[in-house]
Amino acid sequence: MHVISCLDYAEMSRKTARIIAALVQLKPHCVLGLATGSTPVGTYKELIRYHLEEDLDFSNVTTVNLDEYYGLGPEHEQSYRCFMQRNLFDHINIPPENTHVPDGLTRDVARTCAEYDNLVASLGGTDIQLVGIGDNGHIAFNEPNTVFVANTHLVDLDEDTIKANARFFASEGDVPRQAITMGMRSIFSAKLILLLSSGPNKASAIARMIKGPIDPQLPASILQLHPNVVVIAVKEALALV
Ligand code: PGA
Repeated sequence: MHVISCLDYAEMSRKTARIIAALVQLKPHCVLGLATGSTPVGTYKELIRYHLEEDLDFSNVTTVNLDEYYGLGPEHEQSYRCFMQRNLFDHINIPPENTHVPDGLTRDVARTCAEYDNLVASLGGTDIQLVGIGDNGHIAFNEPNTVFVANTHLVDLDEDTIKANARFFASEGDVPRQAITMGMRSIFSAKLILLLSSGPNKASAIARMIKGPIDPQLPASILQLHPNVVVIAVKEALALV
Protein backbone atom coordinates (compact mmCIF):
# COMPACT_ATOMS: atom_id res chain seq x y z
CA MET A 1 0.00 0.00 0.00
CA HIS A 2 1.21 3.43 -0.88
CA VAL A 3 0.32 6.11 1.70
CA ILE A 4 -0.02 9.82 0.98
CA SER A 5 -0.23 11.97 4.09
CA CYS A 6 -2.09 15.27 3.78
CA LEU A 7 -2.13 18.28 6.07
CA ASP A 8 -5.87 18.76 5.90
CA TYR A 9 -9.13 17.74 4.28
CA ALA A 10 -8.73 20.26 1.45
CA GLU A 11 -5.34 18.84 0.47
CA MET A 12 -6.70 15.28 0.59
CA SER A 13 -9.58 16.29 -1.66
CA ARG A 14 -7.37 18.16 -4.13
CA LYS A 15 -4.87 15.30 -4.42
CA THR A 16 -7.58 12.71 -4.93
CA ALA A 17 -9.46 14.78 -7.51
CA ARG A 18 -6.23 15.41 -9.40
CA ILE A 19 -5.66 11.66 -9.82
CA ILE A 20 -9.24 11.10 -10.98
CA ALA A 21 -9.14 14.09 -13.33
CA ALA A 22 -5.91 12.81 -14.87
CA LEU A 23 -7.54 9.44 -15.54
CA VAL A 24 -10.64 11.05 -17.09
CA GLN A 25 -8.38 13.10 -19.34
CA LEU A 26 -6.16 10.18 -20.36
CA LYS A 27 -8.98 7.66 -20.68
CA PRO A 28 -12.27 9.42 -21.50
CA HIS A 29 -14.22 6.11 -21.45
CA CYS A 30 -12.98 5.18 -18.00
CA VAL A 31 -15.05 3.50 -15.29
CA LEU A 32 -15.10 5.22 -11.91
CA GLY A 33 -16.17 3.37 -8.78
CA LEU A 34 -17.64 5.98 -6.45
CA ALA A 35 -18.38 6.20 -2.75
CA THR A 36 -20.68 8.20 -0.50
CA GLY A 37 -20.22 9.53 3.06
CA SER A 38 -18.64 12.77 4.26
CA THR A 39 -15.11 11.93 3.16
CA PRO A 40 -15.39 12.14 -0.66
CA VAL A 41 -17.58 15.28 -0.76
CA GLY A 42 -14.57 17.60 -1.10
CA THR A 43 -13.16 15.44 -3.90
CA TYR A 44 -16.47 15.71 -5.75
CA LYS A 45 -16.44 19.50 -5.29
CA GLU A 46 -12.97 19.60 -6.85
CA LEU A 47 -14.10 17.42 -9.77
CA ILE A 48 -17.03 19.79 -10.35
CA ARG A 49 -14.53 22.66 -10.36
CA TYR A 50 -12.37 20.82 -12.91
CA HIS A 51 -15.46 20.43 -15.07
CA LEU A 52 -16.67 24.03 -14.77
CA GLU A 53 -13.35 25.84 -14.85
CA GLU A 54 -11.05 23.50 -16.76
CA ASP A 55 -13.45 21.77 -19.16
CA LEU A 56 -12.95 18.28 -17.73
CA ASP A 57 -15.30 16.20 -19.85
CA PHE A 58 -17.33 13.42 -18.22
CA SER A 59 -19.51 12.69 -21.24
CA ASN A 60 -17.96 9.27 -21.87
CA VAL A 61 -17.31 8.28 -18.25
CA THR A 62 -19.27 5.47 -16.57
CA THR A 63 -19.71 5.29 -12.81
CA VAL A 64 -20.70 2.50 -10.45
CA ASN A 65 -21.40 3.22 -6.81
CA LEU A 66 -20.48 0.93 -3.98
CA ASP A 67 -23.78 0.65 -2.15
CA GLU A 68 -27.31 1.78 -1.41
CA TYR A 69 -29.59 1.60 1.61
CA TYR A 70 -32.15 -1.14 1.23
CA GLY A 71 -35.65 0.34 1.30
CA LEU A 72 -34.71 3.86 0.17
CA GLY A 73 -35.66 4.97 -3.33
CA PRO A 74 -33.81 7.49 -5.50
CA GLU A 75 -36.11 10.32 -4.38
CA HIS A 76 -35.31 9.83 -0.68
CA GLU A 77 -32.85 12.53 0.25
CA GLN A 78 -30.70 10.14 2.29
CA SER A 79 -30.50 7.55 -0.47
CA TYR A 80 -27.09 7.23 -2.00
CA ARG A 81 -28.53 7.85 -5.47
CA CYS A 82 -29.82 11.20 -4.23
CA PHE A 83 -26.44 11.92 -2.54
CA MET A 84 -24.61 11.33 -5.81
CA GLN A 85 -26.98 13.53 -7.80
CA ARG A 86 -26.66 16.34 -5.24
CA ASN A 87 -22.91 16.13 -4.72
CA LEU A 88 -21.66 15.31 -8.22
CA PHE A 89 -23.85 14.11 -11.09
CA ASP A 90 -26.15 17.15 -11.26
CA HIS A 91 -23.11 19.42 -11.70
CA ILE A 92 -21.10 17.63 -14.39
CA ASN A 93 -21.88 16.49 -17.93
CA ILE A 94 -22.17 12.77 -17.27
CA PRO A 95 -25.11 11.14 -19.08
CA PRO A 96 -27.58 9.84 -16.45
CA GLU A 97 -27.63 6.40 -18.08
CA ASN A 98 -23.89 6.10 -17.46
CA THR A 99 -24.34 6.34 -13.68
CA HIS A 100 -25.13 3.24 -11.66
CA VAL A 101 -26.19 2.85 -8.03
CA PRO A 102 -27.74 -0.39 -6.68
CA ASP A 103 -31.55 -0.34 -6.65
CA GLY A 104 -32.56 0.05 -3.00
CA LEU A 105 -36.19 -0.72 -3.77
CA THR A 106 -35.69 -3.99 -5.59
CA ARG A 107 -38.05 -6.85 -4.75
CA ASP A 108 -35.62 -9.36 -6.22
CA VAL A 109 -32.41 -8.82 -4.28
CA ALA A 110 -30.55 -11.84 -5.63
CA ARG A 111 -31.21 -10.80 -9.21
CA THR A 112 -30.36 -7.14 -8.61
CA CYS A 113 -27.06 -8.13 -7.00
CA ALA A 114 -26.16 -10.57 -9.78
CA GLU A 115 -27.00 -7.96 -12.41
CA TYR A 116 -24.83 -5.39 -10.64
CA ASP A 117 -21.86 -7.75 -10.66
CA ASN A 118 -22.50 -8.57 -14.32
CA LEU A 119 -22.55 -4.87 -15.08
CA VAL A 120 -19.21 -4.26 -13.36
CA ALA A 121 -17.72 -7.31 -15.11
CA SER A 122 -19.05 -6.20 -18.50
CA LEU A 123 -17.38 -2.83 -17.97
CA GLY A 124 -14.09 -4.63 -17.34
CA GLY A 125 -14.01 -3.65 -13.65
CA THR A 126 -13.43 -0.15 -12.38
CA ASP A 127 -10.34 1.84 -13.37
CA ILE A 128 -10.35 3.68 -10.05
CA GLN A 129 -12.40 2.67 -7.05
CA LEU A 130 -12.84 5.35 -4.42
CA VAL A 131 -13.51 4.00 -0.92
CA GLY A 132 -13.84 5.41 2.55
CA ILE A 133 -13.38 3.43 5.74
CA GLY A 134 -15.71 3.14 8.72
CA ASP A 135 -14.55 3.59 12.31
CA ASN A 136 -15.18 -0.14 12.56
CA GLY A 137 -13.00 -0.87 9.52
CA HIS A 138 -15.83 -1.46 7.08
CA ILE A 139 -15.42 -0.81 3.36
CA ALA A 140 -18.66 0.14 1.63
CA PHE A 141 -21.13 -1.83 3.80
CA ASN A 142 -18.88 -4.84 4.25
CA GLU A 143 -19.20 -4.92 8.01
CA PRO A 144 -16.99 -6.68 10.60
CA ASN A 145 -17.18 -10.45 10.33
CA THR A 146 -17.41 -10.05 6.59
CA VAL A 147 -17.05 -12.80 4.02
CA PHE A 148 -14.11 -11.72 1.88
CA VAL A 149 -15.23 -13.70 -1.16
CA ALA A 150 -18.66 -12.04 -1.32
CA ASN A 151 -19.94 -10.38 -4.46
CA THR A 152 -22.70 -7.76 -4.33
CA HIS A 153 -25.13 -8.75 -1.59
CA LEU A 154 -27.66 -7.61 1.00
CA VAL A 155 -26.19 -6.94 4.45
CA ASP A 156 -27.47 -6.14 7.92
CA LEU A 157 -25.81 -2.93 9.07
CA ASP A 158 -23.57 -3.04 12.10
CA GLU A 159 -24.77 -1.16 15.21
CA ASP A 160 -21.66 1.08 14.96
CA THR A 161 -22.57 1.98 11.38
CA ILE A 162 -26.18 2.76 12.28
CA LYS A 163 -24.95 5.05 15.08
CA ALA A 164 -22.34 6.71 12.84
CA ASN A 165 -24.85 7.34 10.04
CA ALA A 166 -27.64 8.56 12.34
CA ARG A 167 -26.22 12.08 11.92
CA PHE A 168 -27.72 12.19 8.42
CA PHE A 169 -31.23 11.17 9.57
CA ALA A 170 -33.84 12.75 11.83
CA SER A 171 -33.22 10.01 14.40
CA GLU A 172 -31.28 6.78 14.79
CA GLY A 173 -34.54 4.88 14.33
CA ASP A 174 -34.83 6.24 10.79
CA VAL A 175 -31.52 4.73 9.63
CA PRO A 176 -32.22 1.74 7.38
CA ARG A 177 -31.08 -1.54 8.91
CA GLN A 178 -29.98 -3.13 5.67
CA ALA A 179 -28.11 -2.18 2.51
CA ILE A 180 -27.07 -3.61 -0.82
CA THR A 181 -23.31 -3.44 -1.10
CA MET A 182 -20.61 -4.50 -3.48
CA GLY A 183 -18.67 -7.26 -1.76
CA MET A 184 -14.92 -7.27 -1.30
CA ARG A 185 -14.60 -9.59 -4.29
CA SER A 186 -16.45 -7.08 -6.51
CA ILE A 187 -14.36 -4.20 -5.11
CA PHE A 188 -11.17 -6.12 -5.90
CA SER A 189 -11.94 -5.89 -9.62
CA ALA A 190 -10.64 -2.30 -9.45
CA LYS A 191 -7.33 -1.59 -11.15
CA LEU A 192 -6.56 1.08 -8.55
CA ILE A 193 -8.21 1.58 -5.16
CA LEU A 194 -8.01 5.03 -3.59
CA LEU A 195 -8.86 4.88 0.11
CA LEU A 196 -9.61 8.27 1.65
CA SER A 197 -9.70 9.08 5.31
CA SER A 198 -9.82 12.33 7.21
CA GLY A 199 -10.88 11.94 10.83
CA PRO A 200 -8.83 11.08 13.95
CA ASN A 201 -11.64 8.62 14.73
CA LYS A 202 -10.36 6.51 11.79
CA ALA A 203 -6.78 6.23 13.10
CA SER A 204 -7.21 2.87 14.77
CA ALA A 205 -8.97 1.28 11.78
CA ILE A 206 -6.33 2.67 9.39
CA ALA A 207 -3.46 1.33 11.52
CA ARG A 208 -5.06 -2.12 11.72
CA MET A 209 -5.75 -2.06 7.99
CA ILE A 210 -2.13 -1.31 7.13
CA LYS A 211 -0.22 -3.17 9.84
CA GLY A 212 -2.56 -5.71 11.33
CA PRO A 213 -3.30 -9.25 10.29
CA ILE A 214 -5.88 -9.81 7.55
CA ASP A 215 -8.99 -10.31 9.62
CA PRO A 216 -12.70 -10.49 8.68
CA GLN A 217 -13.35 -8.42 11.83
CA LEU A 218 -11.54 -5.55 10.09
CA PRO A 219 -12.83 -5.84 6.51
CA ALA A 220 -10.44 -3.20 5.12
CA SER A 221 -7.46 -5.40 6.07
CA ILE A 222 -8.03 -7.54 2.96
CA LEU A 223 -6.87 -4.54 0.91
CA GLN A 224 -3.31 -5.62 1.84
CA LEU A 225 -3.73 -8.27 -0.85
CA HIS A 226 -4.77 -5.89 -3.61
CA PRO A 227 -1.79 -4.96 -5.82
CA ASN A 228 -2.64 -1.29 -6.23
CA VAL A 229 -4.02 0.55 -3.20
CA VAL A 230 -3.24 4.17 -2.41
CA VAL A 231 -4.28 5.56 0.97
CA ILE A 232 -4.77 9.34 0.84
CA ALA A 233 -5.34 10.49 4.38
CA VAL A 234 -5.18 13.53 6.61
CA LYS A 235 -2.31 13.12 9.07
CA GLU A 236 -4.62 12.70 12.10
CA ALA A 237 -6.02 9.56 10.48
CA LEU A 238 -2.47 8.22 10.12
CA ALA A 239 -1.48 9.01 13.71
CA LEU A 240 -1.14 5.34 14.69
CA VAL A 241 0.66 4.15 11.56
P1 PGA B 1 -17.56 8.85 6.20
O1 PGA B 1 -17.95 7.33 6.08
O2 PGA B 1 -16.92 9.23 4.90
O3 PGA B 1 -18.87 9.57 6.40
O4 PGA B 1 -16.63 8.98 7.35
C1 PGA B 1 -17.04 6.43 5.55
C2 PGA B 1 -17.57 5.02 5.71
O5 PGA B 1 -18.31 4.76 6.67
O6 PGA B 1 -17.22 4.17 4.89
